[in-house]
Amino acid sequence: MNDTNSINQETCKLCGLCAEVCPMKIMIKKGAGGISFRQDRLPLCMKCGQSMAICPTQSFIVKGLSYAKDFFEMSDPIAPDIVFFNLIATRRAIRNFKDRPVPKELLEKIVQAMTFAPPGFTPIKTEITVIQDTEIIRKALPYMIKVYDGLVKAMNNPIARLFIRQNVGSAKYKTIKNHVVPLMKSRLPELKLGVEDTITRYAPAMILFHADRNEENHETDIHIALTYGFLAAHVLGLGGSAMDLIPPAIQNNRELKRMFSIPEGNMVVGSMILGYPKYRYQRGIKRELKSVSWI
Ligand SMILES: Cc1cc2nc3c(=O)[nH]c(=O)nc-3n(C[C@H](O)[C@H](O)[C@H](O)COP(=O)(O)O)c2cc1C
Repeated sequence: MNDTNSINQETCKLCGLCAEVCPMKIMIKKGAGGISFRQDRLPLCMKCGQSMAICPTQSFIVKGLSYAKDFFEMSDPIAPDIVFFNLIATRRAIRNFKDRPVPKELLEKIVQAMTFAPPGFTPIKTEITVIQDTEIIRKALPYMIKVYDGLVKAMNNPIARLFIRQNVGSAKYKTIKNHVVPLMKSRLPELKLGVEDTITRYAPAMILFHADRNEENHETDIHIALTYGFLAAHVLGLGGSAMDLIPPAIQNNRELKRMFSIPEGNMVVGSMILGYPKYRYQRGIKRELKSVSWI
């Protein structure tokens, strides 16, 4: 027990699913010795609810989330007559995959779904690269690790920090300083040892979204296409997630750009990992918008 997250030891069956799906890898399963929390990673908990959503015995508790109030059982149809609502309510970010390739026909259907995404205005700027060769993703990971290792080191240097700030602008700089660097400081040791892949998540397939850096409005179009893509993946029995950590790594490494055939002058804006989900979630999570005003 700690002051953030806790496990009811009396009901916990030690299945370890909470540790498996936690995006921050905060818990460690020590065989029959139980599940313990990594104190250094506890502050990284973003209360995503993944571990609570998968726990078969409702033993895992994130402070501030309640099984009764914040979740619904997957078997409970929320709106039985509205297929669409069932579809969007049962989707989760999938970061644990079966060791099974994704058939090309399904990837093609996901791409087809993206073609229905509305662009802000034409001409269409979204370009995608579908990586069906898992080996390329595995080969790319060490380069991504190298980029983040370099970033963490650079952020320790005041002159390099200034340079990064000028280069990315103040909003992105804040994300790097307050989110990416603490995250990577925690993840890099295991990433470098090759015992944990918290960037590409051992995904069997991936889609990269890019566009000519000078084209207007391309980022919004890409995020809408990406959303259509992961909803299509869900309905096709696949799972995946947007991965914001991947595009900047590719963008900042020539070898990665070459590996993924990103055209010169294009900016990688989004990425989506894909595969067959390894686990089935027991429940979905209800979230409120920050505010809803009616006028
Ligand atoms: C634009 C976007 C970028 C994301 N980037 C990452 C990422 O880099 N790494 C990661 O583990 N999850 C990433 N996610 C997944 C979110 O963390 C996840 O959607 C969130 O925790 C909510 O969980 P849910 O999708 O299961 O409802 C991203 C999601 C979105 C929409």
